[in-house]
Formats: sequence, structure tokens, C-alpha cells
Amino acid sequence: MNTKSSGFIFSIPYEIAVARPLRQTTPAERETALRDAYFNTELLPQDLIYVDLSTDSGVSSSSTGQLAAVAAPSTIEPGMGLASEGSRSFALLAEQVRRVFGFPYFVATPQGRAAERIWTKIHIRPNTFVIGNLLFPSTRVHIEMNGGKIIEAVDDAAYDLASNEPFKGNLNIQKVERAIDENGADHISCIYVELSDNASGGHPVSLANLRAVKEVATARKLPIFLDGCRILENSYLIKEREPGYNERTVLEIVRETCELADGCTLSALKNFLVASGGLILSRERSTYQKAMMQAFLDGAQLTGVAMEQLAIALNDIFASDSYIQSRVEQVRYLWQRLQHRVPVVRPACGHAVFVDVKAFLPEFKSEDFPVEALVAFLYQHAGIRVTKGPPAAPSQVARGIELVRLAVPPRKYLDRHLDDVAEALLYCYDHRREIKRLKRVEEPGRGKYEPAHYTVV
Ligand code: F0G
Repeated sequence: MNTKSSGFIFSIPYEIAVARPLRQTTPAERETALRDAYFNTELLPQDLIYVDLSTDSGVSSSSTGQLAAVAAPSTIEPGMGLASEGSRSFALLAEQVRRVFGFPYFVATPQGRAAERIWTKIHIRPNTFVIGNLLFPSTRVHIEMNGGKIIEAVDDAAYDLASNEPFKGNLNIQKVERAIDENGADHISCIYVELSDNASGGHPVSLANLRAVKEVATARKLPIFLDGCRILENSYLIKEREPGYNERTVLEIVRETCELADGCTLSALKNFLVASGGLILSRERSTYQKAMMQAFLDGAQLTGVAMEQLAIALNDIFASDSYIQSRVEQVRYLWQRLQHRVPVVRPACGHAVFVDVKAFLPEFKSEDFPVEALVAFLYQHAGIRVTKGPPAAPSQVARGIELVRLAVPPRKYLDRHLDDVAEALLYCYDHRREIKRLKRVEEPGRGKYEPAHYTVV
């Protein structure tokens, strides 16, 4: 996959400059670790993990340029304060952000959820609705905290885990129109679209769909906001799957995607190879001013060094399409190694492989905690950490969908690591009858939101 009419394209556009040793744990050590973690893989100590696919967020490797920026920032400036626009770090980031996303205004925050908190506070009116695909839990919570209710208007294909529809993140236009007609446009705060829809399996949203959403939104004077955390993968899958985009660069597709939106929030921890960073992208000076002030008041501004690291990453990522190509192809490689035997969600997407747990463990009931039981078994066998991932969206819960997400951190693992993951998961599938049911341990005083404790039934 490395030739093109314009010449040879390198499959992997980086080399490894710093390595972290991994220790080979024994089965007995893993068994003890699992018991000590109450069979909740989220609670396992990092040192006892071989390959960690619990998230693709904030765990990619840094480039030499990014490390140099930490060691000797070209700008020793906080980047925080009301006049951050004047700082050198801000200028470096602003140049990249405007070039890549094309929005005239932006606010940099430490995380995606900080961006969402500020953006929803400005845009969500109490007792209104937000129409969306399957939004991420932090986006949902912030909408609801501001008095909004979410109408999930994703295409039904998103719930069909085995269908090969190429754009299962798409909104269903009839559902969108119905939601507006039934509630009145005055009672809709916005349409929020998550690109590479994480909850549904990382499925992309097509540009044709975004254009159709925009047409409806413009006619009803409603703003469209994007959750652009995984805009790179979404754009790469558009390039591969949407007619007319094969010869376009990912940067051009990112720009075209952004042109269809009135605003965007994103966490830079996923696609943009940083451990801290989020963005609010806006077309309006007035909302930008409000957001900037709110970030200042909330203490939710990004430090100067982190701005610089993000600017360097944006520059590196868009130097050619081979970075995002290698990323998506690595995820697909894992998917392909599993797809003939393990019930994986179809088609392959850009950031993770999702397993349909109901098909994997059909005899398990929800109260047997099949997801937790499977990931505990996988850890016991091979030291590989996978977690439940973000909680399912309400419309998925209603349909009894249970997924395990193997989130592949960008620029972190070699294909050989993923071979080990594939072998281990195939082993779990062949030995699935040995997987033990779990039950939740109820402990008085343990908070509802603390990681759950389990025990073997
Ligand atoms: N939106 C999406 C689609 C996300 O996946 C996440 C985080 C956020 C917003 C919030 O960003 O973490 O920087 O505050 N997802 C991580 C994950 C946690 O593992 O999928 P954040």
C-alpha cells in the first residue's frame, strides 16, 4: 500500500527514538494482579501490562520535536491569561490550527471535555434538544448539565454490528427532520455530530451526509457542531470509501469537513499525538470571546509548552498522508487477523477494533458481566489490557449491545504486538467456554462512580 502515481510513499513515516522496556509477567503474577484489581482491568497496575489497548487517548509516543519542546521550549511563557493571543506559543499554534481546520477563531483547553463544557455552556439552552449521532459520554453529560436533552438520530445501520455499510456514523436525515418538526426548531439548540463515532464502533460520517445535514440545518437556522477528536481517521476513511475523494489529500478533506460546520470541539489527545490539549473552533468572534473568557475563569487554558507540542504535531501529521494511512492500516491489520473467527464489528474502522460480546459469549446474560469476564480472561492469558471502554449510548443500551473496544494508541505499538493481541484473542475465542461469569461486589460506602469491583461466580 505504498505506491501512488506521484511516487513512492513510505509506509511508516517515523522511526523509534525512545523505547520503554516491557516485563514478561508470569501467569501466577497476572492471576494475583487480577484478584487484587477485583477483576476490573481498569484497576491493574501499568507495570503488569504487556499491550495496553484500553484507550487511544493521550498515550501515543512523542516525537523528538515534541520532546525537545518540553526540554527547551522556544517560548517560556504560560500561554494562560487574558492576553494569551500575544504569546509566541499561541502564535505557533494559531498558524497550524487555522491552516488545518480553517476556522478563524479558536480556544485551546487542556482536554476535550473542557472544550465541551465551555462550548455547551454557551450554546445549550435549558429545556431544548440536541440532535446527534451517538455522542461521547462527556459530550452528553455536558449537554444535559446545561438542560439539553439528546435525540439520537443515527442511521439504523449503526446498530447492525455485522453490516458492512461504509458510513455507519451517519445521521439519518428523516430522523433529523422528524425531530425538528416534532419539537420545533426553536426548541433545538444545535445538531452535534461526532466524527468516527466512537460508541458505534468508530464508524465514519460521510461528507455527503454532512452536506445533507447542513441543508436541513440551514433551512431551519440551526447550527452544526462537530466533535472532531477523530477527524483524521474520519477523513482518511472518506478518502478510501466516498466516491470522488480518492485523489484528495486528508488535509483537504479535513478542511472540507470543517467548512460544513459552525463550530467544533475536539480532544487533541487522540488524533493529534499529545498528552494534553483540546480545541474549541469557532466562526464567530462573539462566541470565541465568550469561550476564551470562560476558559480563563474555569482555569481551563492550555499551557504554552503544550500549545507548542500540539503545533509541532499538527505540522508533522499533515506533512503527508502517510502518517494517518499507517495508523488506519495498523488498526485494519488487527481487524483482519480477527475477522474470520472472532465476531468483530464490521467494517474495520480507524482507531479501534470492536468485539460484539453477545456473539462472543451468547450464553452469558448481562448480569454475568460478559464484557468484564472476557477482558479479565484475556489479561490472565496474555497480560493484554482491554477495558469496557466508554459506556454505550442510551439507544445502544436499549438494544442490548455490549462491545469490547481494542483501542490502538497511535504511533505506539508494532504490528508484532498486534499479532500477539490477535493470537491471544483467538485463544480466548477457542477457549470461551472456560470464561467465568462475574458478579459485582457491593460494598457499603463505595461510590456509584468508582470503578466497580467484581468476583468470580
Ligand atoms: N469525544 C470523544 C469522541 C472522545 O472519544 C473523548 C475521549 C472525548 C470527546 C473527551 O476528550 O478525554 O480529552 O476529555 N475519549 C477517550 C477514549 C477517553 O478512550 O475514547 P478528553
